[in-house]
Amino acid sequence: MLSKKMEEALNKQLNAELFSSYLYLAMAACFEARNLPGIAHWLEVQAKEEYGHAMKFYGYINDRRGRVTLAAIAAPPAEWPTPLAAFEAVLAHEQKVTGLIHGLVELAAQEKDPAAGVFLQWFVSEQVEEEKSADAIVAQLKMIGDSPHGLIMLDRALAQRG
Ligand code: FEO
Repeated sequence: MLSKKMEEALNKQLNAELFSSYLYLAMAACFEARNLPGIAHWLEVQAKEEYGHAMKFYGYINDRRGRVTLAAIAAPPAEWPTPLAAFEAVLAHEQKVTGLIHGLVELAAQEKDPAAGVFLQWFVSEQVEEEKSADAIVAQLKMIGDSPHGLIMLDRALAQRG
């Protein structure tokens, strides 16, 4: 059984992962509307990944005989001025999520719940990858600067994400 504190915290993270999905889907829609389909595709794949993260929490809470409770998902922004601004927001968001995951790991230790600690290890590693990929795109966008040619090349590259 999960402690009440752990159950509440895992439900909160389920909501945070759904918000991440919503946020990236909003970004995808923004760049679809600006004719950058590769960037939009990358963000759409990311939104699906975040839904997958949410479902891992959903499954885990159920596996531990906890109760999933679904709270309202906050509305994300609708517009980002540039791809760089959007990917800087992705990176900042992922850094925030990393903090949330680390907080959950600490709570699992406090609650003497090693099983939850093991479950959360996958997310600890995943966050390293999440920050790395967002950071790489931010760096590329900075190199591209105001070059439309560079942006089109990056858009084509991001369209390849499986
Ligand atoms: Fe679910 Fe991007 O962290």
